[in-house]
Amino acid sequence: MKVLLLGATGNVGSRLIPALIAHKHQVVVFVRSASKLPSTAKTQLTAVVEGDGTDSDAIKAAILKENCGAVINAADLAAMTRWHAPSQLPKIFAAVAKAAVEAGKERGGPPLRCWFLSGFNLLDGPKEPHLLADYLPFFPEHRQNYIFIQKYSPKTDLAWSLFCANLLTPRHTPAAYPHPTEATADNLVAAADVPPAWSDKWKGIPVVGTFLNILVNASGYRAPLEDCADFLAADLEKGLGSEWVGKRVGLKVKPRAG
Ligand SMILES: NC(=O)c1ccc[n+]([C@@H]2O[C@H](COP(=O)([O-])OP(=O)(O)OC[C@H]3O[C@@H](n4cnc5c(N)ncnc54)[C@H](OP(=O)(O)O)[C@@H]3O)[C@@H](O)[C@H]2O)c1
Repeated sequence: MKVLLLGATGNVGSRLIPALIAHKHQVVVFVRSASKLPSTAKTQLTAVVEGDGTDSDAIKAAILKENCGAVINAADLAAMTRWHAPSQLPKIFAAVAKAAVEAGKERGGPPLRCWFLSGFNLLDGPKEPHLLADYLPFFPEHRQNYIFIQKYSPKTDLAWSLFCANLLTPRHTPAAYPHPTEATADNLVAAADVPPAWSDKWKGIPVVGTFLNILVNASGYRAPLEDCADFLAADLEKGLGSEWVGKRVGLKVKPRAG
């Protein structure tokens, strides 16, 4: 599949380039400055488009010109709390979604497949219908984006998925080329809309049990960047048939056998 990638010079995006290439995708990057791309990455790209992630028209033009079937948005980092300076993420998120919806409709074919990097606390908490964000009020812009994306039908407008990772840690810095073979989606367990492999071990403690349970659980949802990049690249091979279309997706490292 031909994939338009935003955020290619960042932590997540720089690992996505080799992972997408390992899965035989063609990668078109949409970056503010091509000079920030390492030369190893540049030689493997199908095209480089320079522009700002808030410019919906430019993103749409890139999708149509390069005939991309999928988009991954890993651009900008959400502000940690509502007291931190706001990021451009909500603007970029909205611009990417609008561009991808319009490009799909203008092309007259099926909707585009689109992954958005999001936050762990967008997943459902143990007491429905609460989000984990009701207990862990960090990165509030991700919640704003989740509300925004729900106006688009995953079947007819945009086959979106939200990647709801907790802290992502690198196996290799800088990003390794080629994609490291040990970094595979097989190392992860995933679930739609809830954190996978949740434990209710601490829940029974009076008064603070639910909150303590969430805090203890959340710390177990770190995952290697390269494994998550592999997960996304592998999923794009499924196209519109992916089980994650229209879902928030939680991930956890699989426990080691034995
Ligand atoms: N890293 C984690 O542990 C983690 C965990 C969970 C979720 N996430 C989510 O994953 C996403 C990416 O995180 P990250 O750690 O990779 O962030 P990062 O390292 O700060 O990278 C951000 C990327 O966004 C690009 N960017 C920023 N503003 C832009 C704009 N206006 N137009 C186009 N590109 C722009 C940057 O490009 P320049 O080089 O031009 O600055 C850079 O490539 C975020 O949504 C984050 O919340 C990250």
